[in-house]
Amino acid sequence: MAEEDTSPASITGKLDTRFIGQKIIYFPQLSSTMDVARSEARQGASEGTAIIAGEQTSGRGRVKRLWLSPPGNIALSLILYPDVSNLPYLIMIASLAVVRSIENVAGLKADIKWPNDILIDGKKVCGILIENEISGGRTARAIIGIGVNVNLGALKIQDSYIPVTSLEKEVQGTVAKTDLINNLLVEMERLYLELPDGESIYKEWRDKLVTLGKRVIVRTGTETLEGLAESVDSTGALMLKLDDGSSTRIVAGDVTLRER
Ligand code: BTN
Repeated sequence: MAEEDTSPASITGKLDTRFIGQKIIYFPQLSSTMDVARSEARQGASEGTAIIAGEQTSGRGRVKRLWLSPPGNIALSLILYPDVSNLPYLIMIASLAVVRSIENVAGLKADIKWPNDILIDGKKVCGILIENEISGGRTARAIIGIGVNVNLGALKIQDSYIPVTSLEKEVQGTVAKTDLINNLLVEMERLYLELPDGESIYKEWRDKLVTLGKRVIVRTGTETLEGLAESVDSTGALMLKLDDGSSTRIVAGDVTLRER
């Protein structure tokens, strides 16, 4: 089947936002939308500019993982310039926007695995990568990278820790990428404009986390910990209760849920 047209005109033509996605730079094939977004931001791209690739040849994930990004995957990076105090909310906003748009467009219930993997029925359908640059105490740029598996074709393994799925596999039918991108941009803007009041965003994100109350293994850059995922604070950090009874606060890491 021919790949759906995800060119800028097919998305912006019906996009009801003030600034997010109003400028889209589209590449049929690209190394990584993160790199182009960073270089566009350095050249003064307007807030809300989106870089979209039909296919990425060197897509990257968190903790230096490779992100496979065939034509059936949505690969998008968004340029924002939030206040430094709002940076912790970007993870929450992006995760919630993806969850909402999956529900709105595909009619599927999605969950969030801390900090920002989107799962359907325990299987990863979307990954989010956020790269911030701060200079002189201010946000120079924040790049939000979102990869959604709409149709993975023959590809099965995208993430070595957990099983993966695609929207089309879950609905057993087609899902229009342009509709999903369009709705994702609308939801991103809606949530982003709620700032600086991040309290309701934090609460909605926390309530959608499948991680809390579960035994988990957390891999940070330096260590691997196991314990009970107790809570998250309003900066997005995870509180992990270790087996010796002590608690530790984890700012960044990768979680595997333990089934017991
Ligand atoms: C993860 O789950 O580890 C995060 C995956 C993020 C993938 C997206 S696809 C668009 C953007 N460009 C990239 O190279 N990575 C992000």
